[in-house]
Amino acid sequence: MKKIGILTSGGDAPGMNACIRAAVRMAIHNSLEIYGIRRGYRGMIEGDVFPLDRRVITNIIHQGGTILETARAPEFEGADARAQGVNNLQQIGIEGLILIGGDGTFRGGTMLASESDISVIGVPGTIDNDIYGTDYTIGFDTAINTALEAIDRIRDTARSHERLFFVEVMGHHTGFIALESGIAGGAEELLIPESPLEIDELCSHLVEIFYRGKKSAIVIVAETDKPGNSFQIANEVKDRTGFDSRVCILGHVQRGGRPTAHDRILASRLGIAAVQALIDGKSGHMVGEVNRKIVLTPLRDTWQKQKSLHKGLQETSALLRE
Ligand code: F6P
Repeated sequence: MKKIGILTSGGDAPGMNACIRAAVRMAIHNSLEIYGIRRGYRGMIEGDVFPLDRRVITNIIHQGGTILETARAPEFEGADARAQGVNNLQQIGIEGLILIGGDGTFRGGTMLASESDISVIGVPGTIDNDIYGTDYTIGFDTAINTALEAIDRIRDTARSHERLFFVEVMGHHTGFIALESGIAGGAEELLIPESPLEIDELCSHLVEIFYRGKKSAIVIVAETDKPGNSFQIANEVKDRTGFDSRVCILGHVQRGGRPTAHDRILASRLGIAAVQALIDGKSGHMVGEVNRKIVLTPLRDTWQKQKSLHKGLQETSALLRE
């Protein structure tokens, strides 16, 4: 293998740049040429490809977002579009491709690996942490710390006004961000899809904690597939209990910002591991970190198998919210 490509796809995540940087350095270390593909699969279809060298990746380790830019490209589900993308890479002589992204990216990558001669290696990059085959995804740690900073600020105003707040966090269909930011932020209640709570149960718990003497409370709400749903929940709680509340939706703020040390280190390790996997002749796999060891997981498993929330963290959260 002489030439490889790298792209970022789906929602951006802090640490993607650190991963690109590490992959480029590892490629150069192994005398490989490495090319960047702009805007994920869309750029692959359009042939938007350029050489990466040390100069391009200078001073990016601390930057959020992705210098390669990203896109959600439903057109990649079409076989003709994928063939066009493969053709564009093969014309340059690219034989291996690194995909940094989440489940949507890996669905495309699974098809790509089975259809073409290009070797495909995935790297988990999404704030959601919802990828099977790795303890953490690149960007998750930064996102929960960003959410935590917001929760801490809201606690100040909640306490001052003796108010109930609903803080909605991202996470796609999962509660990873909600669970960990909720524990760290001392949330009084947690609404996550993995352990659904009926509105009546939520109300009786809130009534109980206010009866016990609390004057303010924060409920962390995972967005699930209904971003903005917190407004409806707040209204239902008001109807049943009379509690006035405020809603704060953190939204895309969670996707930006300087990556934490944890994300930079994880991204650096996985960027190196991805290039190594290509050198070793692997394809159709994702590199991840499990118990601090690099592991390879078939790309198909990363989105077909469901990653569970950490049971111990769920128990911790439940106990602290009693
Ligand atoms: O997958 C990352 C994520 O930020 C999810 O948490 C969120 O549901 C989604 O992307 C938002 O996507 P978009 O940027 O397309 O609005």
